[in-house]
Amino acid sequence: MDLRFMADEPSAVERAVIARLIDPVESRNGQVVRGGHAARGHRHLLLPALAAVQSELGWVSRGALNEICRRLLVPPAEAYGVASFYALISTDPRPAEVTHVCDDIACRQVGGLDLLSQPSGGEVVTTPCLGQCDRRPAMFVQRAGGQDEVLVSGPPATVHAGPLLRRVGKVDPSSLADFRKQGGFEGLRRAQDIGAEAVVAEVKKAALKGRGGAAFPTGVKWEAVANEPAPRYLVCNADESEPGTFKDRVVMEGDPFAVIEAITIAAFATGCEKAYIYVRGEYPLATSRITAAMAASREAGLLGELEIEVFRGQGAYICGEETALFNSIEGFRGEPRQKPPFPAQAGLFGRPTVINNVETLINIPEIVLGGGDAYASVGTPDSTGTRLFCLSGDLARPGTYEIEMGRTLGDLVELAGGFAGEPKAILLGGAAGFFVSSDYLSMPLTFEDARARGVTLGSGVVMAFNHDRDMHDIVRRVARFFRDESCGQCVPCRVGTVRIEEAVARARSAPIDRPLIADLDRAMKDASICGLGHTAASVVQSAMAMGLI
Ligand SMILES: Cc1cc2nc3c(=O)[nH]c(=O)nc-3n(C[C@H](O)[C@H](O)[C@H](O)COP(=O)(O)O)c2cc1C
Ligand code: SF4
Repeated sequence: MDLRFMADEPSAVERAVIARLIDPVESRNGQVVRGGHAARGHRHLLLPALAAVQSELGWVSRGALNEICRRLLVPPAEAYGVASFYALISTDPRPAEVTHVCDDIACRQVGGLDLLSQPSGGEVVTTPCLGQCDRRPAMFVQRAGGQDEVLVSGPPATVHAGPLLRRVGKVDPSSLADFRKQGGFEGLRRAQDIGAEAVVAEVKKAALKGRGGAAFPTGVKWEAVANEPAPRYLVCNADESEPGTFKDRVVMEGDPFAVIEAITIAAFATGCEKAYIYVRGEYPLATSRITAAMAASREAGLLGELEIEVFRGQGAYICGEETALFNSIEGFRGEPRQKPPFPAQAGLFGRPTVINNVETLINIPEIVLGGGDAYASVGTPDSTGTRLFCLSGDLARPGTYEIEMGRTLGDLVELAGGFAGEPKAILLGGAAGFFVSSDYLSMPLTFEDARARGVTLGSGVVMAFNHDRDMHDIVRRVARFFRDESCGQCVPCRVGTVRIEEAVARARSAPIDRPLIADLDRAMKDASICGLGHTAASVVQSAMAMGLI
């Protein structure tokens, strides 16, 4: 794209959409009076402005990009770099309706790819996992003028509830009154009664560990942020894009007030004055329910001084990585930052930041109400509480299953009605996880047992594959996922993910080049900035070890 387009003007509609979000740089007698730092200080409006134009017009024209740049004083080349980073933003003209058909590992096995050839009013493209594996196959329809929608073809999914999911399917997700009738916002009242420091102490006693993948102790993270100077931020990570993962969607769609209550308690405990909920762009229903729940809670005066902003992602897996997510909110490309500094010291806008996964947060009201010790009595000393698992693939009853940590993988598979067909492999932990055999059915589902056996629970993915499945095709799709989603900052990851995909492709007709994969894996683990590069070869390595490819 030619970036010399300073003369391109927006249409009247584009100008109006942008004006709703960003004031023009004021000028008086030809002199800028609110430009410079004041205008650049609004850089965080860049992605929302691009998204607003995309949503209204179906693409972002040069004139619209130019108008946004003029108002924010962002160089057009930089704004183009941001716009082109995201799959849901197009800088080329597109039809008013674009259908994103999931061709990822769960959907491609049950006719997802056939949907590509079905007639559609607009453009049809493929997309990585849409987080609907429990109701596969799925597609996401992006419409100019709004009304984005997810369409699924599978039967309704199972929700096996414990304390965290107890209201899903039982509470009206649009009703604050119903939520309160079922115990909602009692945790917040209790938190306010016992005080911020006591809440952090209970969370530490509970030994709650993060459910977003890294299993970091939540209380330790909170204490670190609470001890840093204000202003502080809280971010709820609802970007959920790990292939095979859909639990956070089930929570946000089914019990959105629970997320708002948990965020409010967390912000109170850590002294954060503003919170963001970063929801993946392909979750329109979760976004609207969370937004409505937040507005109703604010209206009822339950949020106090806390400001909460729902921020919609625009289609980039890497933005789930915490520092990439900060860059995304700040209006930069969603590229991970070097750590240290860690988010607790310098996170969003360079300020101390608590970032937690949706599932991690919804544990908080229970901990506050029942006490940390009672919470820690469930599970094992290292892995306390219950955990949400995303069961999909060749199982009798796919869905979201909440079980006590420490029960076995076999228990979980049994709860889901057992395997459909003869099992060949189970994907544990997502695309960043591992294939395992039926030997692992006896493994207790705890962080320590997973670690001891060289695997991970990751984001709670348990996807089963029976003997009829084309495992080479599935492993290649995972390799392509990492090739496509690498942000490209680190050479080992940018090049390594391409080379791995090529090696897997060649292995269709010849033995896979094991030394090459081992070399690439080592280089990516040693020299990548973020977890994507560290884990990109794990699935391929485990597939080779099991003789699947
Ligand atoms: C490539 C990549 C993608 C990630 N995606 C997510 C995600 O979608 N949701 C999430 O909660 N954490 C994700 N994480 C983990 C976050 O960086 C971070 O550890 C997490 O949000 C912390 O919350 P927790 O302590 O509650 O788990 C991802 C990490 C990496 C490396
Ligand atoms: S490891 Fe990969 S995804 Fe992560 S920062 Fe480096 S290039 Fe980007």
